[in-house]
Amino acid sequence: MLAPPLRQQSLGAGRVSQPPCGRRTRTRSVTMLLHRAVIPHLRQACRLKSAPSRLYIRACSTDDSLQPQCPSLAFSGDNSSTGGWKVMGTLLGLGAVLAYHDHRCRATQESPHVYTREEVRSHSSPETRIWVTLGCEVFDVTEFVDLHPGGPSKLMLAAGGPLEPFWALYAVHNQPHVREMLAQYKIGELSPEDKVTSTLKTSDPYIDDPVRHPALKVNSQRPFNAEPPPELLTENYITPNPIFFTRNHLPVPNLDPETYRLHVVGPPGGQSLCLSLDDLYKFPKHEITVTLQCAGNRRSEMTQFKEVRGLEWNIGAISTARWAGARLCDVLAKAGHQLCETEAHVCFEGLDSDPTGTAYGASIPLARAMDPEAEVLLAYEMNGQPLPRDHGFPVRVVVPGVVGARHVKWLGKVSVEPEESYSHWQRRDYKGFSPSVDWDTVDFDSAPSIQELPVQSAITEPKDGETVQSGEVTIKGYAWSGGGRAVVRVDVSLDGGLTWHVAELDGEEQRPRKAWAWRLWQLQAPVPAGRKELNIVCKAIDDSYNVQPDTVAPIWNLRGVLSNAWHRVHVHVAP
Ligand code: MTE
Repeated sequence: MLAPPLRQQSLGAGRVSQPPCGRRTRTRSVTMLLHRAVIPHLRQACRLKSAPSRLYIRACSTDDSLQPQCPSLAFSGDNSSTGGWKVMGTLLGLGAVLAYHDHRCRATQESPHVYTREEVRSHSSPETRIWVTLGCEVFDVTEFVDLHPGGPSKLMLAAGGPLEPFWALYAVHNQPHVREMLAQYKIGELSPEDKVTSTLKTSDPYIDDPVRHPALKVNSQRPFNAEPPPELLTENYITPNPIFFTRNHLPVPNLDPETYRLHVVGPPGGQSLCLSLDDLYKFPKHEITVTLQCAGNRRSEMTQFKEVRGLEWNIGAISTARWAGARLCDVLAKAGHQLCETEAHVCFEGLDSDPTGTAYGASIPLARAMDPEAEVLLAYEMNGQPLPRDHGFPVRVVVPGVVGARHVKWLGKVSVEPEESYSHWQRRDYKGFSPSVDWDTVDFDSAPSIQELPVQSAITEPKDGETVQSGEVTIKGYAWSGGGRAVVRVDVSLDGGLTWHVAELDGEEQRPRKAWAWRLWQLQAPVPAGRKELNIVCKAIDDSYNVQPDTVAPIWNLRGVLSNAWHRVHVHVAP
């Protein structure tokens, strides 16, 4: 249970709640449905032995995926044909198994099985079954291991022991729906002597995280993920460092600038570099304004349409800074790398790592890395200051026009490889899929990793639900597009998209093909007389005439990335 789990699907009253995706889980749910449907009927049938009975078994679920193959069995108690008895026999056999299971479940509830920690420890492999503890409860999660959203290997780290040290690292698990899901696997409790040790505090891997600005809207504390509130986001063209959005997957490493070294692996037969900060300062210093946007920006709007897996970012997982550092192409050239004919990728590794020692990693194509015009930086300054710890101190990658996930922070290693980074975040995350793909059918290898982002804009003022004055309304926001494409226009509507105004663009002029930073925009528009409310909408158009889609539905995807539908704000007009 070490990565963001899937929210439990709510099936409503009278239906059975379902643990995360997967055929095995579904089988389990169907079994539970059958169990709940059959047992009461069997009990009733036993009580009314002599009465001619007509028995129906129907699993009741509005979720088609949960309908058993043979949803209805019907027979008459008066009919003694062989077929009927066969069905009866099968049914009674099934009933006996389920009744036994029911009995065991109730027995566990009434007087839970007690296990020693030693016993729990001995269940740490698929052969012995996989048990874990949380507090004083013991769970058999053997069937869940393959379904673990963070991958089986992560859950196996806790096999035979407590979940707490891992949940402390991935605090997203500490939610009611995760506990509810876990509860389905409960098999007993720890013996009283072992309970004492199980409540011992585990060391907090986030204890050393930096202090953050109180204005930030926190989406998750551990790891730390937060965004500036909309009203501060476009207050300045350059986002002040303390409120620049933060997206961390792991604890923030505390690195000593004196001993920090960046390893740049050389080409085959060449020399690798081991660069101190002073060595990096010797490369020509390059400075550019770049907007960083997380692929999950505006995910909360996708969630409103249909549930997705991920942090609930509002419109603030985007910020702009002036970055300075050495150009990656200069450093790679120094290490002896050249652009090659065959496909190649520059892989980056962070110095933040999970309990297995796996570092955050990502990659970009070598062609982009070697192109001086692409201006990829190994940045050591953010808005004239050394990088703040949350933003990658002492060195991070800045890849203009590309999704935030590739801007690797706390950079430890750079290498050139024939294939993309094998990191989870390159291959098993940050990819887009059709709205028809779900967690049962997703094939991460079938989709390219996100690099350049699509055109984006959002309204930062007024806020949704606010009351504006009649007469004139001021609307503000940001607009940006990936790949260096400039924003050429922002259209704003006060009536949900029936009629449009063109907003005024502010901020730095954008260079052709190198428009790395956002435009802020605003519009002063008369409020039509008699209007009690306004449905304000914005959409941006980039210099390739890409435009944002009008609704979320056609771009919805299971991970909630690339959310760039028209941004909509509903306000009331003061009488
Ligand atoms: N680099 C490391 N080493 N670890 C991380 O968790 N998060 C990535 C990227 N680089 C991450 C990382 C993601 S998903 C994003 S969106 C950006 O950093 C966010 O950068 P910021 O926190 O400076 O805004």
